[in-house]
Amino acid sequence: MRENDPKVERQKFICGNWKMHGTLEQTRTLLQGILSQWNSEYSDVEVAVFPPFTALMEASRLLQGSAIQLGAQNAYYEDDGAFTGEVSLRMIAELGAGFVILGHSERRTLFCETDELINKKIERSIATGLMPILCVGESLEERERGATDAVVTKQLEHSLAGLTIRHFSRITIAYEPVWAIGTGKTATPAQAQESHAAIRDRIGTLFGRETARDLRILYGGSLKPENAHELLSLPDVDGGLIGGASLKADSFMAIVQAAAQITSQQQA
Ligand code: 13P
Repeated sequence: MRENDPKVERQKFICGNWKMHGTLEQTRTLLQGILSQWNSEYSDVEVAVFPPFTALMEASRLLQGSAIQLGAQNAYYEDDGAFTGEVSLRMIAELGAGFVILGHSERRTLFCETDELINKKIERSIATGLMPILCVGESLEERERGATDAVVTKQLEHSLAGLTIRHFSRITIAYEPVWAIGTGKTATPAQAQESHAAIRDRIGTLFGRETARDLRILYGGSLKPENAHELLSLPDVDGGLIGGASLKADSFMAIVQAAAQITSQQQA
């Protein structure tokens, strides 16, 4: 992969995954904080927030007319039917979500989601007009026994089975090493770059070099204002999927600002 190819222009993408945080009141406070700190200098960065299902409608209302986009943290692939407790892709789209996070490690480990299920969700999310963010990443035990590449490759191959190049303009991938999520431990820049480059390479093998070149790969796992500039400057890191630091307007917007700074340096 020619990482420094001057033709490569992937817009930085900063996503706030709120996880199971966000009553209606918290949603209003956080979004009002984010919107009040929004600045036209950030317009070259794509920004999206992912509140819980119950706050999507209110978030959609508050974000109307703003540059900040909306997504959901999960959804089920069937449109409707006897699936107690599930929310469909079509339902989240109706509430104004343009994106959906699929295959987050918390879904995989706590709710037993398999690559096969995630694959169905990805395929249906694109058919529904949504843009999926597919999460992949290894556990600490997998990294320590040198299985990172094999684990991520299997997740990619199985979750993306049956998809074609045509689907790829709608897909984003997030590399989230499980051992870095919510732990305060961040992948070193070298670890992040190595994994992102390996993902891009694998996508190149599966779907062609052009697809790989245009694909955005986000980093997730204890991304915060203190490490944002360093991680987001890496050649194969195209943005961030942020948990804890997305729950405060100040820290989330500091990361957006870091992405905007990097973008303007690259454009200069
Ligand atoms: P933290 O930023 O809290 O480590 O969470 C990362 C994550 O899981 C985002 O999806």
